[in-house]
Amino acid sequence: MSEDAPFLKPNEYRDTWCGQVLGDRVGEEVVVSGWVHRRRDHGGLVFIDLRDRTGMVQLVFNPDESGGSFDLGHTLRPEFVVSARGRVVARDPGTVNPEMATGEYEIHVEAAEILAESDTPPFEIEGFRSEVGEEVRLRHRYLDLRRPRMQEAIALRHRLVTEMRSFLDRSGFLEIETPVLTRSTPEGARDFLVPSRQHRGSFFALPQSPQLFKQLLMVSGFERYFQVARCFRDEDLRADRQPDFTQLDLEMSFVGVEDVIELNERLMAYLLGQMGVDAATPFPRISWDEAMVRFGTDRPDMRFGHEVVDLTEVLRGTEFKAFGGVIESGGAVCGINFGERDLPRAQLDGLIEEARELGAKGLVWAFCEDGGWRAPIAKFLSAEEQTGLNEALGAEEGDLMLVAADEHHVAAGILGGLRTRLAERWDLIPEGPDRLVWVVDWPMFEQDPDTGDWNALHHPFTAPDGEFDPADPGSAKAQAYDLVWNGVELGGGSIRINRPDVQRQVFRTLGIEDEEAEERFGFLLEALRYGAPPHGGIAYGIDRFAALLAGFDSIRDVIAFPKTASGSDPLTGAPSPVDDHQLREVGLTSRKQAPKSS
Ligand code: AMO
Repeated sequence: MSEDAPFLKPNEYRDTWCGQVLGDRVGEEVVVSGWVHRRRDHGGLVFIDLRDRTGMVQLVFNPDESGGSFDLGHTLRPEFVVSARGRVVARDPGTVNPEMATGEYEIHVEAAEILAESDTPPFEIEGFRSEVGEEVRLRHRYLDLRRPRMQEAIALRHRLVTEMRSFLDRSGFLEIETPVLTRSTPEGARDFLVPSRQHRGSFFALPQSPQLFKQLLMVSGFERYFQVARCFRDEDLRADRQPDFTQLDLEMSFVGVEDVIELNERLMAYLLGQMGVDAATPFPRISWDEAMVRFGTDRPDMRFGHEVVDLTEVLRGTEFKAFGGVIESGGAVCGINFGERDLPRAQLDGLIEEARELGAKGLVWAFCEDGGWRAPIAKFLSAEEQTGLNEALGAEEGDLMLVAADEHHVAAGILGGLRTRLAERWDLIPEGPDRLVWVVDWPMFEQDPDTGDWNALHHPFTAPDGEFDPADPGSAKAQAYDLVWNGVELGGGSIRINRPDVQRQVFRTLGIEDEEAEERFGFLLEALRYGAPPHGGIAYGIDRFAALLAGFDSIRDVIAFPKTASGSDPLTGAPSPVDDHQLREVGLTSRKQAPKSS
């Protein structure tokens, strides 16, 4: 990191950074400050690795040069904050530390001062993660963030956001802040609610995204808006989801799908170039239908094959009930060839369990052997069916196939889910460039199989592609696009509805009748009556972007103060109960205990 050291105006604490104590300073006197990273006490000599934001340097306390400060060297403990003055000396070749950028030099301390002591930290700052549970890391996040790897991740995130701002600024976008205390902005999650003191019984909702405000800004004529926006969603958390997270949100007027994609490909090419990621533009596109069929997911990881194959026609008329029954009732049998591998029975049974977790009723495994199948169910399939399956799956001797039968999207989805899980475990992803892909041609709506209700696949403000027939919501396509990076949904957006009649119709299809629409979204419907230009945009998850760049599996590692997987903050203890009087002020009472069931 030493080349990136920030400008420094010398003061009483330092005239250089630890990471900058290099050859050009040999023979000079320097003043450095930082945290004691490591101490080695050799009796006669004390060696301290002193750490600041830019790196580390070795301090040497010795009785000849350190004078009155020599004894202080013995008292230093990890994470003490220390300031030291001394002479930069080239180390003897035998004592050079190649692990440290400044490892050829050291500072022979002439005077030193302890600026702050430290309790023994609950975990070592050295070594990333060094076996520390996440709860402990987050409880002492300020210490966790001292780790060089975390400092780098946070700095990387800063650079990413700076480059985003710089590109969009140069492209004529204005950064405009939108409210955090607002009304519900539906993006498919639950809202976080904030009670109002001045309007008792009423609540603000924290925005799930700035969606409606950015549309209003287009009605206002700003034409190009962006925001690094905090969003809040009360949903089940996963490695790539936090209850509060950050989006790069943008919107443009007088544009169609191609214009938004074009601008965003330039933005991404610029950002990836700046951040040293090799990915060529234009990014390939895949329709939603094709992604679901070939990969069983709308977030396809296209770095590797092992695609889902529809085996229904090969098995039509089969005697094997588990497959035949599903096919007769309109379902499908799908499979994936995972290539040559030998797995013990216990692991194969484990895969069946994993498929169940993904919602499968069952899973069939089979190996290609002598042109047929070696599998517990092989005896139920004719030789012809077995060869037909191998052919359809392109299976060769020793290849492992996994097969599921259900409604087509369910079977494909389960196999797609297994494909994602097994990718790393089985090393299926070849070395090579990252793969970004646009998923386009989304359906407008999906139907809840239990209730029959229609839900928006993106959000209710997405424009249909052409006229949409309210009598047949299932066939309506949306002008929507997602950007998927190595199987991670990085961003999503759409062209928006700019006509109040179309917006009302979409609401009705979603079961939001006119009166309710007026009540919840009247301000939007009204704004659309005052000359709303055609407009569209996108939002990216900045946390996901930074995690992908930093090579972390979890977005928690690129958020300075994240929540745990269960949505709490061990550092501050949030969420926490509040005093009764605070509740009374906002017109609420607390039911601290769960109500007794009668
Ligand atoms: P969407 O809901 O797809 O679109 O969100 C855009 C991107 O935000 C990120 N994201 C999250 N990141 C971390 N934690 C979460 N809980 C979380 N939820 C979403 C993802 C996602 O792709 N208003 C629309 C955008 C638009 O239409 O312009 C929206 O919010 O990376």
